[in-house]
Amino acid sequence: MNIRKVIIPVAGWGTRSLPATKNIPKEMLPVYNKPAVQYVVEEAINSGINDVIFITNRDKSSIEDHFDYNLQLEAVLERAGKQEQLALIRQVAEMANCISIRQKKQLGLGHAVLCAKDVVRADDGFAVMVGDDLLFGMNPGIQQLINVAASERLPVIGVMEVPQERVNRYGIISGEEVSPGIYRVHKLVEKPKVNEAPSRLAIIGRYVLTPEIFGHLEKIQPGHGGEIQLTDALQCQADGKGLLAVKIRGMRFDTGDWAEYLTANIYFALQEEELRYDLIRHLKPLLPWD
Ligand code: UTP
Repeated sequence: MNIRKVIIPVAGWGTRSLPATKNIPKEMLPVYNKPAVQYVVEEAINSGINDVIFITNRDKSSIEDHFDYNLQLEAVLERAGKQEQLALIRQVAEMANCISIRQKKQLGLGHAVLCAKDVVRADDGFAVMVGDDLLFGMNPGIQQLINVAASERLPVIGVMEVPQERVNRYGIISGEEVSPGIYRVHKLVEKPKVNEAPSRLAIIGRYVLTPEIFGHLEKIQPGHGGEIQLTDALQCQADGKGLLAVKIRGMRFDTGDWAEYLTANIYFALQEEELRYDLIRHLKPLLPWD
């Protein structure tokens, strides 16, 4: 399976992040010095993907603009001799080949993926990465899935273990561990009750799928929350030719959750040698047990 394209759905309303997201897409909220979605695109690029397909809506053009040249700003930086900043913004414009597709009604993540059908259906496989889920580790998260999809020739979804009391926020899988950290998926349940979840393995926003998923997405009815759920189409995939899940190694932040969003900011700032000690100095007096 040769994965060259990624679908990044960014058309949701971001209601958990209001009022910040009233006019700014959730995916454009900065995490340290980059918009959240840039980390997702970088993860894709670092995994050998070149084509990024954004599923957008009418208010998300700032995402496309971010990955394009800003010639006026470039001229200003050039005149000011700010070569470092100039290189930085040019590099963002050049990092990926971007395609945008409008999701004209926000009918759910499954529907967003279906919007890209015509662009990826000729490929033997493609990635889907949710635009507000950030993953960090030694190996890019989506690369870990691509490796398994290539060797097993099956679609693969990313999972991570979550605490029992948080299972009701995620799609949860049950399955059989076929090799360490790799599961053959039996059941997928969208946001189960805490005491009814089949496991603590939560689906996070990384998938490697095949065009077969579109047939399932076209057949399923609106599910949880009245939306076309990708999870329901994945259940059809699991019941049919099969579906694997890979326990992703790394750290994950959902930027739609304020605690995780703020933690991600601190995490990235702490990676910067120059900022680290200043940040700690500012944070220390704020801690009640200091
Ligand atoms: P979320 O449910 O996390 O995002 O969907 P949301 O709907 O924007 O946020 P809240 O819950 O209202 O705060 C996961 C991803 O799927 C995209 C979202 O943009 C997000 O990146 N999505 C969701 C779509 O592209 N289209 C949809 O119809 C729904």
